Amino acid sequence: MSETYDVVIIGGGPGGYNCAIRAGQLGLKVACVEKHTKLGGTCLNVGCIPSKALLHASELYEQAGTDFARLGIKVEGLKLDLPAMLKQKDETVDGLTKGVEFLLKKNKVVRIKGTGRIAGAGVVVVDGPDGETTLTTKNIVIATGSEVTPLPNVEIDEERIVSSTGALSLAKVPNKLVVIGAGIIGLELGSVWRRLGAEVTVVEFLDRITPGVDLEIAKAFQKILAKQGVAFKLGAKVTGVEKLKTKLKVSVEPAKGGDAETLDADVVLVAIGRRPFTEGLGLKEAGVAVSNRGVIETDHFKTGVDGVWALGDCVAGPMLAHKAEDDGVAVAELIAGKAGHVNWDLVPGVVYTDPEVAWVGKTEEALKEAGTPYKVGKFPFSANSRARTNHETDGLVKVLAHAETDEILGVHMVGTGVGEMIAEAALAMEFGAASEDIARTSHAHPTMTEALRQAAMGVEGWTMQM
Ligand code: FAD
Ligand code: NAI
Repeated sequence: MSETYDVVIIGGGPGGYNCAIRAGQLGLKVACVEKHTKLGGTCLNVGCIPSKALLHASELYEQAGTDFARLGIKVEGLKLDLPAMLKQKDETVDGLTKGVEFLLKKNKVVRIKGTGRIAGAGVVVVDGPDGETTLTTKNIVIATGSEVTPLPNVEIDEERIVSSTGALSLAKVPNKLVVIGAGIIGLELGSVWRRLGAEVTVVEFLDRITPGVDLEIAKAFQKILAKQGVAFKLGAKVTGVEKLKTKLKVSVEPAKGGDAETLDADVVLVAIGRRPFTEGLGLKEAGVAVSNRGVIETDHFKTGVDGVWALGDCVAGPMLAHKAEDDGVAVAELIAGKAGHVNWDLVPGVVYTDPEVAWVGKTEEALKEAGTPYKVGKFPFSANSRARTNHETDGLVKVLAHAETDEILGVHMVGTGVGEMIAEAALAMEFGAASEDIARTSHAHPTMTEALRQAAMGVEGWTMQM
């Protein structure tokens, strides 16, 4: 006789496990079904965490070889130990996934190993190591995340033609890496391997990098990456990759037509986006509507089917771990009869390169398109005293505020450590702050955060620092 749960969550990624923990805290009887041996989903196993572990280590490696000398620090015999770098990444992942397991236990969540599918109203069937188990529940939460978008004619083998997953574990530094897609994954992982010694060329379909990022910031970012040695082929598409014994031949064509060219590579990284993963869940049979892009359709996390909820990467909104986490908490609270809500318009984004790119709210292009009257304040890090002291002067901060009300509508930054700085802007915007609120708030000196204050001051034209 199977037990009846209040909630069965399918998927143990940031969306699923945060939903499980919050539901457990609220006294609900919860099961979390995960098909992989480790909890944590894409983010902990093959996403946020391992990529940041490699970004951090490779950044220090590069700094030791280039920047330390001018600080008066001599490094002799600097050498890359790639297996050790990969090992510390794997150890971090292991530690964090075990942490999730501990948190589920602590909150009395039953962890069920196997692949779940919806088998009717309030019924989830799990195909696990010991055969099939049927779970009955009042609520089903779909938190099955996303997967790599494939590129036609370019078959991923995770050794020479890799997705982000393979690019997190290359056994050696490629001489030549071709990255397809100048989005977040392409630029983060492209940066890792460039710092470790690869010659990196990024091929991007559009005539700009990082679509969705404020264009002025994206252009500044591209210039910085180019200065670091990343080569860009914008407005170009890869039409195929030929695998020879010793190298790969990548065929590239201008997106709008024209002469094709061939690039040599040792490794090709396919990073053209991610798409919702809902395979084998039985959504159609259950009557759960999915858009033609594969996104589960929801209204405040409710699918059209009573008692079936969905969240995270498999629904609308930015495909980010912290958004999935917030979705998870909101769904647990809604199920428990509380007022769960997530403001998808104010989810901050960060590209963890060096310098970092960070943003929250609307871009200047979006404001123009919507016809919203706005004012702009900007401040370059080259005029910030902490940035100059640390020799980290690349980049700028840009604040967009409503021309009449002064409400902050968007904050966009490129610069060292801006991934940490963006939280201030997100908080201010959640509180409906005006640019003047930031401009008149004391910021410690000397800090990089003063650049945000100065940009906010710039909205009314009273920027003061150098
Ligand atoms: P997922 O994390 O994908 O979890 C879904 C889980 O469901 C998986 O564990 C899967 O095994 C399981 N599952 C699927 N189907 C079933 C089934 N039928 N039965 C049982 N289990 C099932 N985001 C950030 O915010 N910051 C970053 O720095 C960042 N870096 C990233 C780097 C890379 C290389 C990648 C690929 C992604 C990165 N992301 C980052 C995005 C982030 O990983 C995702 O937004 C986040 O993991 C989404 O969480 P989720 O719970 O919706 O889905
Ligand atoms: P992306 O959507 O960020 O970028 C994909 C890029 O590929 C776009 O610039 C697109 O124009 C381009 N493209 C699409 N088709 C192409 C083609 N045929 N040829 C050349 N270029 C093509 O997707 P990406 O980088 O794969 O990342 C997926 C998602 O994972 C991100 O959008 C983000 O949600 C998440 N992520 C978040 C990170 C973070 O928060 N730091 C880090 C890594 C991933």
